[in-house]
Amino acid sequence: MKIPRLLQAVLILAGVYFGFIVVFDVLLDAVIPSSLLAMYMFFVTAGVFMVFTYDEDQTRELVAPIKAMVEDPSKRVWRNTVFVIVPLVVGVGTYQQMQPSFQAPVELRTIHPAPPTTAMIYGKRVKLLELENPFRKLEKEDPEQFGELVNEGAVVYIENCQFCHGDKLDGKGPYAAGLNPTPLNFQDVGTIAQLQESYLFWRISTGGPGLPKEAAPWISSMPVWQDFLEEDEIWKVILFLYDYTGHRPRSWEHE
Ligand code: HEC
Repeated sequence: MKIPRLLQAVLILAGVYFGFIVVFDVLLDAVIPSSLLAMYMFFVTAGVFMVFTYDEDQTRELVAPIKAMVEDPSKRVWRNTVFVIVPLVVGVGTYQQMQPSFQAPVELRTIHPAPPTTAMIYGKRVKLLELENPFRKLEKEDPEQFGELVNEGAVVYIENCQFCHGDKLDGKGPYAAGLNPTPLNFQDVGTIAQLQESYLFWRISTGGPGLPKEAAPWISSMPVWQDFLEEDEIWKVILFLYDYTGHRPRSWEHE
């Protein structure tokens, strides 16, 4: 039995479509963006129909089932079904597209913009490359005092930061759902685990308004903590962030 040409074309397109998905998602383990997939499929579809409509006989064979469905009196039931279902599907699709969505629009922003070489913090111009946490050395020298400083940092955190960054430091504080960009999740290996303490000091002291241009859109709700906290309190809360999450700050020496 010969497979009708139209069905052949559809089968080829479906095969290529699932082929793409298998190659990208399964073999390469890289999810293919839907826009790229749509572009590939556009060219494949164009190619398939060029081959299938190479000459008039082939074209006639290809459209024969469609023509029959529209014209053949014996296909009345088919025709009526298709003519009801197609507009319905299109209608539902359009309705779904037009429905307003509550999802925040996707915005691309640099989460960790390169820090400036110097920044004005507490009225002083500090060189971020040279800046170090003054308490870090106590971790080895005086673990007991270090532990106390971490606890003091925890108090600073609970009083000021957990509303947004969450009491588990996972970015899920009670205010988080209302903020875009969302408060960062410090448990995630993509945040403080990748950063130096001086970078955190700069980000915490200068907050959203301190972000450089490449971090635009400029809508971070992260407050400017140098207006509310002492310098020491910021260094202590940084100790706490690393201690609680078990991450190590990045540093120059160890790399
Ligand atoms: C009003 C909500 C809010 C509060 C309160 C808040 N933050 Fe944030 N914070 C954010 C948001 C939103 C971001 C992500 C956007 C950004 O990077 O500016 C952020 C980002 C950060 C970053 C950058 C992390 C990174 O990986 O780049 C650090 C560090 C940080 N916050 C520390 C703190 C500390 C410490 C406190 C308390 C002293 C605090 N935050 C309080 C909202 C808040």
